[in-house]
Amino acid sequence: MRKVKKAIIPAAGLGTRFLPATKAMPKEMLPIVDKPTIQYIVEEAIESGIEDIIIVTGKGKRAIEDHFDYAPELENNLIEKEKFELLEKVRQSSNVDIHYIRQKEPKGLGHAVWCARKFIGNEPFAVLLGDDIVQAETPALRQLMDQYDSTLSSVIGVQTVPANQTHRYGIVDPVSNDERLYQVNKFVEKPAPGTAPSNLAIMGRYVFTPEIFTFLEQQDIGAGGEIQLTDAIEELNKHRFVYAYDFEGKRHDVGEKMGFIKTTIEFALKNAELRDETLEFMQTILKENLSLNKGK
Ligand code: UTP
Repeated sequence: MRKVKKAIIPAAGLGTRFLPATKAMPKEMLPIVDKPTIQYIVEEAIESGIEDIIIVTGKGKRAIEDHFDYAPELENNLIEKEKFELLEKVRQSSNVDIHYIRQKEPKGLGHAVWCARKFIGNEPFAVLLGDDIVQAETPALRQLMDQYDSTLSSVIGVQTVPANQTHRYGIVDPVSNDERLYQVNKFVEKPAPGTAPSNLAIMGRYVFTPEIFTFLEQQDIGAGGEIQLTDAIEELNKHRFVYAYDFEGKRHDVGEKMGFIKTTIEFALKNAELRDETLEFMQTILKENLSLNKGK
């Protein structure tokens, strides 16, 4: 039995929801407090037991490669200034071995995954999206890998979302479940409001058997003018069971502005150095804004 050892992190999207910040900078480099979002994702992959990571990049994404590279000048400078704690943080991001491949045009998430097919070969593999940071006792990807080990089938990470949010996600139509593991009748990409078959939304963590590449290869342009990963999952599910797993953990949506702001506040409150001052600041602005509202 083959274990899941490799992971793809697609990061070639245009990040339009964060323009103009993402005009010259990858959205994956936007920090939550002091760490770029993509580093949280890489750390989850490694903590889950992934040994090889490939990041799919595109135009204007050089900063991602630089971030995970060795930075001798910076390290020497921190050593000279005896800033050893910072040195440790800088070294953490260059200790991982990461491969890169370019998606020449942003033709969609499905196409980005397909671009990494030669790196994966004929093995099961994981996909992690940078838009979702998950805090969990057992890393979200590890939970899916454990399900793969027992089913030997592709497993898609899902969580429940409110009914008025289903149109933003890929949604599963479950047939039956064994605790958190669902057999799936259908996968639907961004269903029109009011038409979703359930509230179980695909959350940016996947484990695939390599057959998914056959279906990605056959894909036409789908919803939003892109090659959709969800459409290929739906095709694969017609030939072999694809399971959905409702993973445990708190998921933070950092791919859109409000989620990004909320996550920043939550992470600042979890940081021992920042917690008290952040709380104080929040109390002050809350008071100011409440009194402003009263004056209206
Ligand atoms: P998103 O739908 O979040 O798109 O892609 P985006 O371009 O990153 O951001 P917005 O919507 O324009 O603000 C989901 C994931 O798929 C990757 C993205 O980098 C992101 O991780 N992706 C998307 C690609 O790698 N290539 C693509 O062509 C499209």
